[in-house]
Amino acid sequence: MRFYLTTPIYYVNDKPHIGHAYTTIAADVLTRHHRQRGDQTWLLTGVDEHASKVARVATEQGLAPQEYADRIVGAWRELPRRLNVSNDFFIRTSDEGHKRFVQSFLQRMYDNGDIYQDVYAGLYCVGCEAFKTEAELVDGKCPEHDTVPEWIEEKNYFFRLSGYQDRLLELFDSRPDFVLPDFRFNEARSFIAGGLQDFSISRAGQPWGVPIPWDPDQVAYVWADALVNYLSALSYAPGDDLEAFWPAVHLLGKDILRFHCVYWPAMLLSAGYEVPKQLFVHGWLLLDDRKISKSRGNVVDPLDLLDLYGTDPLRFWCVRAVSFGQDGSASLDGVHERYERELGNDLGNLLSRTTAMIARYRDGSLAASPSESSPIKAELDPLGADVAARIDVFDLTGALERIWEVVRALNRYVETQAPWQLAKDDTNADALDRTLYDLADGLRVVAIALSAYIPETAERILEALGQPLDVRWEGVAYGLTGDIESIVAAEPLFPRIDAPTAAA
Ligand code: MSP
Repeated sequence: MRFYLTTPIYYVNDKPHIGHAYTTIAADVLTRHHRQRGDQTWLLTGVDEHASKVARVATEQGLAPQEYADRIVGAWRELPRRLNVSNDFFIRTSDEGHKRFVQSFLQRMYDNGDIYQDVYAGLYCVGCEAFKTEAELVDGKCPEHDTVPEWIEEKNYFFRLSGYQDRLLELFDSRPDFVLPDFRFNEARSFIAGGLQDFSISRAGQPWGVPIPWDPDQVAYVWADALVNYLSALSYAPGDDLEAFWPAVHLLGKDILRFHCVYWPAMLLSAGYEVPKQLFVHGWLLLDDRKISKSRGNVVDPLDLLDLYGTDPLRFWCVRAVSFGQDGSASLDGVHERYERELGNDLGNLLSRTTAMIARYRDGSLAASPSESSPIKAELDPLGADVAARIDVFDLTGALERIWEVVRALNRYVETQAPWQLAKDDTNADALDRTLYDLADGLRVVAIALSAYIPETAERILEALGQPLDVRWEGVAYGLTGDIESIVAAEPLFPRIDAPTAAA
């Protein structure tokens, strides 16, 4: 099975913040999980450069837009790297390969008779990079950006989106899981059913962008350029036969639903490509109920948190703090709290205690001794299918909670079995062996199940147990821990850290 997943490409008008890290982390969790299940995966992320707001910031800094983008792109490339995200390619819309592809894509739409010239006059919000109708404004302002849109009057090229209404409705009606979650599907479908307006795919009078092939005095509208990245990357990224990965699964935030769920499928139909396989729309991660944005002054640079807690705790928090798909408010104190209570106590201590007891009572070695009647077997056997089923519907938070149920069950098992009591009496030697084996096996299974979320920690657990660093999904089953030989008490996985006094 091929699994091709994309993140939105991020505007480079500013540096990355935790909201961008959020989508990128979720994408990596999904991709790693599919890889564990044996799928051939390809993960794409990157940056969206040809926005008016990018050109504006460049001017403010006295730089040409390309020069500005070249300077800031380093911080964006660093984001997936520091989050331990296993993307296969990082796309820039200023890549020559992308620009060439956009031109051929738009030309195909043009040749198909879907593009015409007209004068457009309307209110344009630079924050959204979109035209707005009066009805969408609140007190004359864009509710999203709290700014007054600008009046723009231009001769542009238009895409006949209105001609695609019936085909889009058919698409939605024949594929009820085309867009998930369901309430987002309904939102997109009602937008289509409400009637579609043609939209401008070009801009006149601004040089920053991809020239329109049949009229190089105009450049492609930033969305008509950016959406095409999902396809263009396959045409020039290193690798063989990448086109076979199409159609993709797209991950996106709710603010860009229309572009992805309505405009993009119509553009693909017009240019003669298959529509996306699926789109998952996630909600917003709010910090203490506030939207994260520079203008609102609560930007938290995820890289600052990374320095303090490390990559895995931040990945863990992003998925766990808010139910993936919904909007949710998180707090920075939550990062610390989950680090201590869940990662440190629930998981870290379980590993420390288990390895310390194997070292102390069995000199670090234990023969494999799975037992059909083990209560831990009953805990572990359904886990693989349960987690996979949740991830298949993008329930990353629910899948993680399901794994955590097992972590909690293993902690209860330590308490009820009390190996330190069993160790006092030699007649309990078998029971002690079985208990220690079950704990080690439970930790091995949990490590594999968690490895898409917290890959470094998963490896450290397997290493501490002296088990192969093999995270294939078949390993999420009871009794596959091999003989344990000469292990020592593991170092704490999550050493104590002082909480930052002001939010980091
Ligand atoms: N450049 C366009 C996307 C083009 S894709 C062909 C864009 N860029 S963006 O940088 O403004 O936003 C990119 C993504 O980050 C969006 O999916 C957006 O929802 C997401 N997020 C930005 N802040 C966020 C949060 N606070 N929480 C969750 N996601 C957020 O739009």
